[in-house]
Amino acid sequence: MKHLIDIKALSAEKITALFAQAQQFNQTPIKETRKLHQGRSAIALFFENSTRTLTSFQLACQRLGIDITALNIEHSSTQKGETLCDTLLTLNAMQTDLFIVRHQQNNIQQEMSSWLNNETSIINAGDGTNQHPTQGLLDLYTIWQYKQDFSTLKVAIIGDIKHSRVANSLMDGLNTMNVGEISLFAPDELIPSKTKHLKASDMNTCVKDADVVVMLRIQKERLPEDLNVDFAQWHEHYGLTNERLKLAKPEAIVMHPGPMNRGIEISDEVADGSQSVIWQQVRNGVLMRQALIHKILS
Ligand code: NCD
Repeated sequence: MKHLIDIKALSAEKITALFAQAQQFNQTPIKETRKLHQGRSAIALFFENSTRTLTSFQLACQRLGIDITALNIEHSSTQKGETLCDTLLTLNAMQTDLFIVRHQQNNIQQEMSSWLNNETSIINAGDGTNQHPTQGLLDLYTIWQYKQDFSTLKVAIIGDIKHSRVANSLMDGLNTMNVGEISLFAPDELIPSKTKHLKASDMNTCVKDADVVVMLRIQKERLPEDLNVDFAQWHEHYGLTNERLKLAKPEAIVMHPGPMNRGIEISDEVADGSQSVIWQQVRNGVLMRQALIHKILS
């Protein structure tokens, strides 16, 4: 594997092998994994904000012995008019092994890999509203840890699905893993018009008997200005509360990619409740990124 740009490039076998590798890294002392890729280097190029994704890529690299530098975009020469292509070629001339890129433009990492003549690896850390493959992988890994068999699962996805690269990568990955059923719920304006998955008529139907409930943030930075959605009423219509969660299977897990907007898409009691696996997702994010980078650089 040279790059990871779209989760659809990964077969079920490849994804399962990454689960196994992540499990193994979980059991290996960091002082040992640090020897694996000593002398290699990576550069993180994040044109959008990030807490979890950037930090977990940094820790994943460090735990593999890779020197990672995160370019501060605000203070970089892109502010002086340098093109993205020239920025990338400049950094590439410093002989790095891996670029980790988050950008607001859909499909940009594909283009970037062609500027590098496919020489240096690129991992997509989120492109616009399109894909977020490493989030998809860590979400699949988390589901697998709790549920093992995807084929019997009902996965409910609720919130701003239309602008969510997290939802896209998760749905693609779940398809690859042959998931039982995906049920979606959002206002009409925030659900993709073309989808092969079931659009639930109301939140209760969506959550009912679910094994996994995935809540999404309203991606306000991506919404058209004239959108006719009553955000003040969001929690009432689209928020996950303990009462609604009772409709899911008793052993259902609750997921959220973060950042959470508490009291909007998810109540405190659910976010901090016993069915929430949100911190486990974060923990798995480091392990899964370690597994992926190890695979790409090996
Ligand atoms: C998401 C993203 O940036 O796409 N966050 C993340 O990477 N965990 C989701 C979001 O911003 O809502």
